[in-house]
Amino acid sequence: MIMSQSQTPLYSALVEMTKQPHYSMHVPGHKNGTVFPKTGKQLFKDILSIDMTEITGLDDLHQPEGIIEKAQQLATEWFRTRASYFLVGGSTSGNLAMILATQKKGKPFLVQRNSHKSIIHALELSGSKPIFLSPHYEEKYERFTGVHKEDIKKALKMYSSISGIILTYPDYYGRTTHLKEIIDLAHSYNVPVLVDEAHGVHFSLNDPLLPKSALSLGADVVVQSAHKMAPAMTMGAYLHLNSERIDPRQITHYLQVFQSSSPSYPILASLDLARYFMANYSKEDLQTSIEWITKLRSSLTNGLVWTLVPLEEGVDDPFKLTLRIEDHVDSQIVASYLEKEGLYPELVDNQHILFTLALTPNYSIYQLKCIFEKVESKLKTKSEFNRATIEGVSSPVFNTVQSNPYSYYELDSMNQEFVYWQESIGRVASASVTPYPPGIPLIMKGERIQREHVDRIVDLLRKDKHIQTKEPFYQKGMHVYIERG
Ligand SMILES: Cc1ncc(COP(=O)(O)O)c(C=O)c1O
Repeated sequence: MIMSQSQTPLYSALVEMTKQPHYSMHVPGHKNGTVFPKTGKQLFKDILSIDMTEITGLDDLHQPEGIIEKAQQLATEWFRTRASYFLVGGSTSGNLAMILATQKKGKPFLVQRNSHKSIIHALELSGSKPIFLSPHYEEKYERFTGVHKEDIKKALKMYSSISGIILTYPDYYGRTTHLKEIIDLAHSYNVPVLVDEAHGVHFSLNDPLLPKSALSLGADVVVQSAHKMAPAMTMGAYLHLNSERIDPRQITHYLQVFQSSSPSYPILASLDLARYFMANYSKEDLQTSIEWITKLRSSLTNGLVWTLVPLEEGVDDPFKLTLRIEDHVDSQIVASYLEKEGLYPELVDNQHILFTLALTPNYSIYQLKCIFEKVESKLKTKSEFNRATIEGVSSPVFNTVQSNPYSYYELDSMNQEFVYWQESIGRVASASVTPYPPGIPLIMKGERIQREHVDRIVDLLRKDKHIQTKEPFYQKGMHVYIERG
């Protein structure tokens, strides 16, 4: 029987419990907020009253049979999946569980090179040998976006036995790729497609004004951060199982491995409410939001400081707004000026500032326009805020399909030594090296270092560019694995 999406079983049960006499002789130690430092008590009061644990009537996330089961069932129906699970450890925990649950012994994954670190960590834990797929550089947007179908076709032909393909959709800026074609191709080889849709939970509203959701395109498992684009508490996320290719018992097993045995009830309740919010979000609500966004965009006129990155309907997420900062202006300074006015962006890179917008209009366009105008006029007049020169760093060219020489399991038993950059050519890297921008690993842990890598790193160091790596002495060289024979 189809359930009514106007219900919030988990949230409502918690609220109901606050109305009953309740002597908390159980964890947590704040005892429904009665024992708490005075200084934070007022602010935390309401949330602590529902910060419960697995007492009678409140079910168990890891073996749900009551209110959590019902709340997840409502999500399963609304997202139209085989099973939807609530996550209290963000998409991070979902990505870990999704990959470990899909892993077939000894069979590698094809994985997008610019994946979130949780995906790379999952592959390391799986011990397998990764095959990296490079994202393509879109000149028009000056960014790396998705993987091309042709590269996946090439990889599927090269490697006959594969556990699955792991993709990120959309990218951080809300841009999507031809996911349907890739999924159909993978399924023609009976290979499952796992999608990190951390930034796209609202695509499940299934409206032509938004890009299509990975679930509607047939992905086998999808992980979505409900807290990123829907109104859920931070760390609230969903994992959706959408096919028979993956055993649900493996998913629930790994969700237990990676999640707390004392999950946060406020986060779980917010996931129940986020599903309720989306299920009851009408076409008119979306229309109103898009109109608000259109007005906001037209108030941010293109000028000397920035231009608005245009949107392609059905391809770009309209709830992401990106400003391309002009070359002569420092994007960090623009962001710091916005922050001084109380406006905090989501992300700032060398050339862009990204803003994520709410699913319901929540601020006055007039006030936002005033802030942007103020910042723009400050930047136009103050020459010291401008960049003197930008020393260009061309975008790296990666091999489109690149396998590591050893599995992570094999790397675990190998010793390491430190070598200077020039001596590192031909050796196997012990850590990833990621220049910002573009934020895509130039060298991945376990990858064989090539001359082009070293030339590029030396060039970046000379230009004093930011490089992210766990290697402590990266200014001079890095630790590499010692290969036998
Ligand atoms: C693409 C992508 N995947 C996964 C994550 C991890 O999500 P969470 O913060 O919900 O753990 C992030 C976080 O920013 C992300 O950008």
